[in-house]
Amino acid sequence: MKAAYGYTIPSPLQGKSNGVVMDLGIRGRSAIVCASSQGLGKGCALALAEAGVALIINGRNPDLLEQTAQEIRNAWGVPVTPVLADVSTAEGQAALLKACPTPDILVNNNAGPPVRNFRELDRRAILDGVTMNMVTPIELIQKVIDSMVSRGFGRIVNITSYSVKMPIVGLDLSSGARAGLTAFMAGVCRTVADKNVTINNLLPGSFDTQRLRNNLSLAAKRNQVSEAEATARSIANIPAKRFGNPAEFGQACAFLCSVHAGFMTGQNILLDGGAYPGAF
Ligand SMILES: NC(=O)c1ccc[n+]([C@@H]2O[C@H](COP(=O)([O-])OP(=O)(O)OC[C@H]3O[C@@H](n4cnc5c(N)ncnc54)[C@H](OP(=O)(O)O)[C@@H]3O)[C@@H](O)[C@H]2O)c1
Repeated sequence: MKAAYGYTIPSPLQGKSNGVVMDLGIRGRSAIVCASSQGLGKGCALALAEAGVALIINGRNPDLLEQTAQEIRNAWGVPVTPVLADVSTAEGQAALLKACPTPDILVNNNAGPPVRNFRELDRRAILDGVTMNMVTPIELIQKVIDSMVSRGFGRIVNITSYSVKMPIVGLDLSSGARAGLTAFMAGVCRTVADKNVTINNLLPGSFDTQRLRNNLSLAAKRNQVSEAEATARSIANIPAKRFGNPAEFGQACAFLCSVHAGFMTGQNILLDGGAYPGAF
C-alpha cells in the first residue's frame, strides 16, 4: 500500500490468510464510533464493519461523513448510520445516542488539541482540551454503560495517545487530558468487569492520517525543511521505520471489542512500532 509520502506500508491484509479469518463473535452487534469519518476512527469503523457490526459513524464535515458511510456499506454490507455532530457538545452526544440508544460497543475518539507551547494556553484553551479528550468520553460512557451492564456485554475503547506514557513537547494538554481519562477509567472499569463490560485504551504512536500530515507540514515549516525531510526524520525515530496505518489500528480495536477480549480490561495498548522505549 502506497502512503502519502511515497514510502511503502506493508498492509496488515497483505499476508496470506488461506481464507481463514478470525471470527470476532460480534456479528450483529451495534457500535457508536465517534469522530470516524477519516483517520483512526474510520479505521476502527471499517474493522468493526468487517466483523459484521452495525455502525453509527460521526464527523462534522457532511460530504466526508456521507462518503465514508457509503464506502463502509459498499465494503462490508452492514448498516451504517452517519451522525453529523460535534461529539464534544451535549447536542452532538444526544444525536449519537438518539441514533443508537443502547450500543454494544463504544469507541471514543475526538480531535486532539493543536501543538502549542504550554505557556500559550489560556484557561479557555485548557478547558476545551480537557473537554475534548477527557470529559466527552466520560460523558458518553456514563450514557451507555448501564445498558451494557444490564445486557451482560459491552466493549468500550478509548483512543488516547502514546503521549500518555511518553511526553511529546507541545502536546502537554493532550497528554494531561488523556492521562486524566485513563486514571478515571482505571477505577470505573473494575466496577463493571463482572458484567462482561470492558474498558480499554488504545495508544497510537505515529499513524498516517490527516492529523499526522498536518503536524508534519507544520514541523517542516518550523524547521525550514521539506515535508519529505520532516517525514523521513519522524520515521527515523520509529523502530518499525514506518508510520502505522489506520487499518491495522482498526483491527486492534476490533479485537478489543471481540468476544475473545472479555478478560482484558483497564489496559493501555501501545500501537507505536516500538517508539516507546520502555520494557513495561
Ligand atoms: N494519527 C496519529 O498519529 C495520532 C497519534 C496519537 C494520537 N492521535 C489522536 O487520535 C485521534 C484521531 O486522530 P487522527 O489522526 O485519526 O485524526 P484525523 O485524521 O484528523 O481524523 C479526525 C476525525 O475526527 C473527526 N472529528 C474531529 N473533531 C470532531 C468533533 N468535534 N466531533 C466529531 N468528529 C470530529 C474528523 O472529522 P471532522 O473534522 O469532519 O469532524 C475526522 O473524521 C486524535 O485525538 C489524535 O490526537 C493520533
